[in-house]
Amino acid sequence: MHDALVTLRDAATPPETFRRIAVRISLLLTAEATRDLPTAALRVVTPLGPAAGRQIGANVVVVPVLRAGLGMLDAVLELLPNARVGHIGLQRDEMTAVASRYYAKLPPDLRTSYVLMIDPMLATGGSAVAALDMLRAAGAAQVRMICIVAAPEGIALVERHHPDVHIYTPVIDQGLNAQKFIVPGLGDFGDRLYGTA
Ligand code: URA
Repeated sequence: MHDALVTLRDAATPPETFRRIAVRISLLLTAEATRDLPTAALRVVTPLGPAAGRQIGANVVVVPVLRAGLGMLDAVLELLPNARVGHIGLQRDEMTAVASRYYAKLPPDLRTSYVLMIDPMLATGGSAVAALDMLRAAGAAQVRMICIVAAPEGIALVERHHPDVHIYTPVIDQGLNAQKFIVPGLGDFGDRLYGTA
């Protein structure tokens, strides 16, 4: 996990590599965040006879926070191919760092689903709390979030507003700079992912 993280941090990493490594680290995080999901028993027949196994026995909804969360989506769907996907679009004002919503489309039955919110940079926590508020308002009860870099400020805000949401992150960085970027962080995740810097 940490060799992937250092590649993401490196300002010299080009978008093609950044995207690939973001998928790799997201696979590892998804495995960790879904370790305790309920499973159901099933039997299959191998070429040599019957075998018992288990498969995920819960409805899972994955919700990327646009646009950076899209960089983690393929990895989550690789491990949870039957998950349904909701989208939440939040735009951070570059001056105030306040998040405003420009898009939301969530599947029904959130109440009975395990919701996995994916947002790679937990900075001030403003977008995460706004997205979690929307998920709660739509009925989500079991919510966990995955991020790739977290700041203490963001973790504190999420814990204050949504104490029951588990946050999965490989690292907690020093803090935020005056522009509310995570330090040392990795810069703007969306820009690094899509080459829009
Ligand atoms: N969003 C990013 O992409 N990077 C940060 O450091 C903070 C928020």
